[in-house]
Amino acid sequence: MAGDNNIVFLNGQFMPMSDAKISPMDRGFLFGDGIYEVVPSYDAKLVGFGLHIQRMQNGLNAIGIKLNMGADDWRQIANSLIEKNAKGNLGLYFHVSRGADVKRFHAYPDDIQPTVFAFAFEIPAATVADKNQVKQYRVTSTEDLRWKRCQIKSTSLLGNVMHFQQGQDAGVHETILYNHHNELTEASACNVFMVKNEVVITPPLDNQLLPGITRHMLLDILRKDGTLQVEERAISMNELRSADELWITSSSKDIAPVVELDGKPVGRGKVGDIWQLAQTLYGANKYNY
Ligand code: PDD
Repeated sequence: MAGDNNIVFLNGQFMPMSDAKISPMDRGFLFGDGIYEVVPSYDAKLVGFGLHIQRMQNGLNAIGIKLNMGADDWRQIANSLIEKNAKGNLGLYFHVSRGADVKRFHAYPDDIQPTVFAFAFEIPAATVADKNQVKQYRVTSTEDLRWKRCQIKSTSLLGNVMHFQQGQDAGVHETILYNHHNELTEASACNVFMVKNEVVITPPLDNQLLPGITRHMLLDILRKDGTLQVEERAISMNELRSADELWITSSSKDIAPVVELDGKPVGRGKVGDIWQLAQTLYGANKYNY
C-alpha cells in the first residue's frame, strides 16, 4: 500500500495519493496551523477511536477551527481507508488545517474552509507481551526546547522533529525530554513511564506533554486491574536514571520497553517483568476503548 497507489481522503473525496493536491497558501503549509491525530487499527479493529476524536476536537477548539464533522464522519473515513487500502496493521492519520487563504497574514481568517486530509500507513504488528520477541528501545535525553502548549496535538511539529533527529543522530530510537527543573516531560513522539519497586510512575498531564491516548488507556487498565500501584507525579531525571524499568508509549508502539538511557543500562539492561505484565493487560483490554 506504500506510495502513490495509496488511497487517501482529501476534502470529501477519496483519491490516489498522487492526485491529492492542496494550495501552497494553505495555512497548514505556511504556519503549521492545524491539528492531527494518529489512530491505530489492527485487522480493521480501531483502538481508542472515541478518545482520539475527542482529543482532536479539543485541539480544534483550542485553536478556534470550526469543523462540521463528528465522530461518525471520522469513523466512516477510517473504515473506508481500511477497506480501500491493504488491511492489516494501519495507522490512520487525520489532519485538519485552518485552510487556504489568498494572503499570508497571521490572524485567523473567518471566511475560509478547513482542509481535511486523511491517509493510512503501515504500523508494526501489535506488540506481543514476550520479553524475548519485543523490540528493545535505546534512548537519549535532552532539555525540552519545544513550546509551552504541548497538550495541543498541533501539526507544528518542528520542535518534536528536531528532538527526534537528535536521537537519530546519536544512533538511538527516541529522545526523552526534561524541563528546566530537570523533570521528565515526555519523548519527542511518545509518553514516558518508569517503574521503581513495582510502582508504575508517569508525569501528570499539563502543558508540557501530550495527553497520550495510549497513556490514558494504560493508566485506566492498570488501575482497574489493581495489581500494580500507579502514580502520576513529577519525576526528576535523577530518579529516572535509577528506574528499574522505562517504557515509552504511543499509538503505533503500544508499550515499548527501553533498555538503555544515554548509553547506560536501565535497571538490569533487560526487558522487565512489570513491562510483561503491563503489556499483557494492555493487549487484552485495548480494544475496549
Ligand atoms: N505520536 N507525545 C507526543 C509528542 C506524541 O507525538 C505522541 C504520539 C504521544 C503518544 O500519544 P498517543 O498515545 O495518543 O499516540 C505522546 C504520534 C503517534 C505521531 O506523531 O506519530
